[in-house]
Amino acid sequence: MAFPSAPCALWIVSLLTALFAAAVHSNIVSDEDPLQPMTSDETVSVGGMVTLTCRVAETDNSSLQWSNTAQQTLYFGEKRALRDNRIQLHRSTPTELSINISDVQLSDEGEYTCSIFTMPVRTARATVTVLGVPGTPQISGFEKPVPEGEKVTLTCTSTGSKPPAKLRWYKGDVEVQGRPDVVESVPDDPTYNVSSELTLEVTANDDNAKISCVVDHDSVKHGEKRSEQSLRVLYAPEVAITPEERMAIEGQRFSLQCSGKGNPEPTSYFWEKAEGELPPLAKADGAFLSFSVLNKSDNGMYICHAANDIGKGRGSYTLQVQDTTAMSASSGVDHAVIGGVVAVIVFILLCLLIVLGRYLIRHKGTYLTHEAKGSDDAPDADTAIINAEGGHSGAEEKKEYFI
Ligand SMILES: *[C@@H]1O[C@H](CO)[C@@H](O)[C@H](O)[C@H]1NC(C)=O
Ligand SMILES: *[C@@H]1O[C@H](CO)[C@@H](O)[C@H](O)[C@H]1NC(C)=O
Ligand SMILES: *[C@@H]1O[C@H](CO)[C@@H](O)[C@H](O)[C@H]1NC(C)=O
Ligand SMILES: *[C@@H]1O[C@H](CO)[C@@H](O)[C@H](O)[C@H]1NC(C)=O
Repeated sequence: MAFPSAPCALWIVSLLTALFAAAVHSNIVSDEDPLQPMTSDETVSVGGMVTLTCRVAETDNSSLQWSNTAQQTLYFGEKRALRDNRIQLHRSTPTELSINISDVQLSDEGEYTCSIFTMPVRTARATVTVLGVPGTPQISGFEKPVPEGEKVTLTCTSTGSKPPAKLRWYKGDVEVQGRPDVVESVPDDPTYNVSSELTLEVTANDDNAKISCVVDHDSVKHGEKRSEQSLRVLYAPEVAITPEERMAIEGQRFSLQCSGKGNPEPTSYFWEKAEGELPPLAKADGAFLSFSVLNKSDNGMYICHAANDIGKGRGSYTLQVQDTTAMSASSGVDHAVIGGVVAVIVFILLCLLIVLGRYLIRHKGTYLTHEAKGSDDAPDADTAIINAEGGHSGAEEKKEYFI
C-alpha cells in the first residue's frame, strides 16, 4: 500500500476544518432546518410587559412549548401549564406560540426556552433582561441659606436601578459637572443605588438658582425623573438709586429711592452727599431722599448706603437741576407757539400797511395839508423853512384839489 500523497493530506485537512467550522456555526445549519424554532431576546423594565414569540418556518403539526427560567412549562400549545395570571397566551398557531408576561419582576430575568416536540426535540432560547427602574432622585446637603463665597455640596441619590443609572446635574438649564457617580450594591439585590456629589462656590447670583439632578436610564425618558433644589445665598445689599420724578426742575419737588437688593432685605439706609452736608431742604427718610423745592445749589452726587446682617452696599446718583428757562427754550411746543405769534403779528402789520396805503391814496390832499403844517412841530429852523416852502406849493395844490 502506498502512503497518501501530500496533496491528498492537504485535502483531508481542509475538509476537517470545514466540518469544524460548520459545527461551531451550528445555528447557521439550524436556520436551514425548517422545523427549528426561532426566538428573540427581549429587554423590559420592571412593571412592564414582554411578549415572547416562538416561530417555526414549517410544521409537522408537533406542539410548541414555552418554559421559564426554572424550566417550568408555561404554555404547551394553547394549554396553560403554570398558574400565574401575569402570563397570558398571545397567539397559538401550528407555526407560532407567543405569550405575554405582564407586570415583569426582576426575578423574571433569565433564559426562557421554546421547544417543538419533533423527533428529536428542537429548542431555542430567549434571554429576558429586566431593567430595574431608578427611583426619583433625592437631593440632600442643603439645609439653610449659605453666605456668598462659601461652598455648598449637594448629594443626589437614586435607588433601585439596574444596570446602574447615570446622574446628571443642571444649574438652571445648563449642565454642570458633578463628581463621578458612586455605585452601591448589596448581596442578593440585583439593583444599584447611585449617588453623585456637586460642589458649588455660591455667589449672590446663585440666590434662588435652581439646581436639579436628572436620572439617565434606559427605563426612563430623559428628564422624566428629576428633582430640584433652590439655593438660598446670603449676600450684602447691591444698591441702585432711581429718581421718582422724570426730571429735576428748579423750584419743583424731587425725590430719590434707594433700593438695596440683598438677602436678607436691607434693614437700614443712610444718605449722604459726596461734597459735604445734605442740603437743608433735602429730607432723608429710610430708602427715600426728598427735596421739597429743588435749587441749583442741590447739584452734586448723592450716596445711599444700605446694610443688612451680611454687610453694606452703596450706590450713587448725580443730581443735575435744570432751570425753568432752559426747560422752555428746549421745548419744541414753545417754538411752535412763538412762530405762530410772529406769523400773526406779521400778518396784522401787512394788513395795516395795505389799509394805510389805500387811506393815504384816497386822502392825499389831507395828508399834504398836514405836511404843510410841518413847520409847527419841526425840530429846527432849517426844517421849518423847508416845510414852509413845501407847504406853500402844497397849499396851491390843495386849492386845485378842492375846486
Ligand atoms: C397538520 O394538520 C392540518 C390539519 O389540522 C393538516 O391539514 C396538515 O396536513 C397537517 N400537516 C402535517 C405536516 O401533518
Ligand atoms: C400581548 O401583547 C401584545 C403586544 O405585544 C398585545 O397586542 C396583546 O393585546 C397582548 N395580549 C394579551 C392577552 O395581553
Ligand atoms: C439602596 O438604598 C435603600 C434605601 O436607602 C436601601 O434599603 C437599599 O438596601 C440600598 N440598596 C443598595 C443596593 O445599596
Ligand atoms: C436757591 O437758593 C438761593 C440761596 O441759596 C436762593 O437765593 C434762590 O432764590 C433759590 N432759588 C430757588 C428757585 O428757590
